[in-house]
Amino acid sequence: MKIQDNCSLLEHNTFGIAAQARHLVEYDSVEELQDFIRQRNIDGDNSPLLHIGGGSNLLFLKDFDGTVLHSRILDLHVVEDNEETVCIRVGAGMVWDEWVDYAVRQDWFGLENLSLIPGEVGASAVQNIGAYGAEAKDFIQFVDAVDLQSGDVRQFSNAECQYAYRHSIFKTVLRGRYAVTHVHFRLSHKFQPNLGYGALRQALARNNVKEEQLDATLLRRVIIDLRNGKLPDPKVLGNAGSFFTNPIVQRPVYEQIAAQYPDVPHYEVDANYVKIPAGWLIEQCGWKGKALGKAGVYEKQALVLVNLGGATGSDIECLCHTIQADVQKQFGIDITPEVNFI
Ligand code: EPU
Repeated sequence: MKIQDNCSLLEHNTFGIAAQARHLVEYDSVEELQDFIRQRNIDGDNSPLLHIGGGSNLLFLKDFDGTVLHSRILDLHVVEDNEETVCIRVGAGMVWDEWVDYAVRQDWFGLENLSLIPGEVGASAVQNIGAYGAEAKDFIQFVDAVDLQSGDVRQFSNAECQYAYRHSIFKTVLRGRYAVTHVHFRLSHKFQPNLGYGALRQALARNNVKEEQLDATLLRRVIIDLRNGKLPDPKVLGNAGSFFTNPIVQRPVYEQIAAQYPDVPHYEVDANYVKIPAGWLIEQCGWKGKALGKAGVYEKQALVLVNLGGATGSDIECLCHTIQADVQKQFGIDITPEVNFI
């Protein structure tokens, strides 16, 4: 276990915000986390706790006057292997894309479309990360977690996690209550590419890749190139990926917009609801490539807010509120941050 006092969080948030934590505790095993919680209970310590992963979905508005917890649990075990599928239990502290890379190299298939998503394995199960028509929930079988109040271990089934678009029980009723320690993924021994997403099919066609030539390594490569072409590298330009979730609106709201903008991109949700890309709405409001002080809107993808250098959390928040107000004024739609404000 590594404990640091008055610690800079600069290396722990991809927005590159210079916030500090009173304490930063990084633990290497379930037992170390349980020891930390038991000691805290003995000491009667009620100071705030914040569990972070790779810090790729956080916006610090001020210093954190409490303990920031970070998992460095990195073990990986095959729990069950049969002819069709394999189930692997992966430590929450593993970097997500290192896990995807490892799985593809083992010929464990399914995660290819989720290549290069920033963050760590634990957060993937909280956030239900997704890209190019796939979501983490499609592969998660169980989530092992520790109760941050009692230190007890609990296992959640996929159904108990209550997954939905960028949502889980860990973001709603159990917010802040559990630390995910391991995630069990069920992957396939058979490569079945998920090519439902239009932009992915177009990228394959541009690269002259025929479906019969496609293997998991090549699909992963195409996804990585697609992401690199659209999303800024946090090491170069601070950002937290998509800043907003894509709003799900009632069909008449979509139809009213489509009457004015016949090419509005959209995804069908069900008979009553349609999802509209927030990036498109923001671009229509004229924000793409624009800035407010040191906070900017990325020039290639308006859904991504960027730190142009030395921005504070409040600078980004101010840009967020201005964009939300403009989208509301022009389209009558509320867009909600995907990023957590701390
Ligand atoms: N669009 C615009 N202008 C923009 C951005 C997008 O018109 O500035 C349009 C695009 O032309 C396209 C549509 O909006 O027709 C969708 O764009 P894109 O495929 O880039 O995806 P997105 O809906 O903006 C979502 C996820 C991303 C994920 C991509 C690809 C959310 C909040 N975001 O973005 O996830 O990589 O799909 O699947 O659902 C993340 O969560 O951090 C993230 C990057």
